[in-house]
Amino acid sequence: MKKNNIITLNQFISDQQNQFPFVKGSLSKIFRDIQLAAKMINRDVRKAGLIDVLGNFGETNIQGEEQKKLDVISNDVFLKLMDFGGDCVCVVSEENDDIHWCPNGADAKYILAIDPLDGSSNIDVNASIGSIFSIYKRLSPDKPVSKEDILQKGTAQVAAGYVIYGTATMLVYTTGNGVNGFTLDDSIQEFCLSHPDIKTPETGTIFSLNEGNLNEFPQGVIDYIAWCKESNKEEQRPYSARYIGSLIADFHRNLLKGGIYLYPSTAKAPNGKLRLLYECNPMAFLVEQAGGKATNGSIRIMEIEPTDLHQRSPIIIGSNNMVNKVIEMLG
Ligand code: AHG
Repeated sequence: MKKNNIITLNQFISDQQNQFPFVKGSLSKIFRDIQLAAKMINRDVRKAGLIDVLGNFGETNIQGEEQKKLDVISNDVFLKLMDFGGDCVCVVSEENDDIHWCPNGADAKYILAIDPLDGSSNIDVNASIGSIFSIYKRLSPDKPVSKEDILQKGTAQVAAGYVIYGTATMLVYTTGNGVNGFTLDDSIQEFCLSHPDIKTPETGTIFSLNEGNLNEFPQGVIDYIAWCKESNKEEQRPYSARYIGSLIADFHRNLLKGGIYLYPSTAKAPNGKLRLLYECNPMAFLVEQAGGKATNGSIRIMEIEPTDLHQRSPIIIGSNNMVNKVIEMLG
């Protein structure tokens, strides 16, 4: 990239359309709407302490988790834009019990899966949070959309990405041809290419997990964490522990610097905590495109057969060598 050469996300997508024709048409329109959703959510996140959007909404979502006001607002933003755009036949969201059918999208080709605002427990304390998206193509345009269209393996994703509302707001995405990151320039309200062709280091020195649950993790994970803490100058161990409890923030740091994020099964949550469709698959697609790896401990995340919209999965994701070491220790 030439210095001072500003490439907006829209320009980047339009350039990509010549190289990868499948990005043309509806898919690029969905990206336009995701960008707009990101800007609208960003606006509310940035002044969350000033307008009445902090705190709980007063209801729980399908997973029994308390919904924050901003969770609900962000979900509405995505749904309204997709309804209006008509480029998605339906949206599945972490915040909705069931499939949301887009009224203008009966003939549309794409299905959108979203976690509209992940890490919402961090909203009230002004820490980084994110929106996650994943796009699938419906199986047959001639048949009505069924659960099989929605419950496709992660390998079928045509695009995935996230928006991180951090010290800066960034949109990072893949369509299967590498990973690119765009920083929102507030002054012109455009996402501009800032992190072209992101590659994650083969090995890092950061491990991220909720160590409070350590005693409940599988023995291989307990052994791995003990290994991370051992001294070994050559291998730069002990590694650093970094965990904010907001997947996007932890993932984004590890993606850029090299590291590993683990949310394994626990006695309380035998299938882990994170959702396959809204969190694990999109992150797995991104990390693999950046040269890293994602597993549930025994199989590749993107090979898991989904059986339920809100299914959870254990996840171990990050730099190749680090994920391989956990797999080895899990035996
Ligand atoms: P939520 O959106 O309900 O705050 O969940 C956040 C997710 C994920 O972003 C984060 O990494 C993980 O849950 C943190 O869970 P623990 O608090 O159990 O560590």
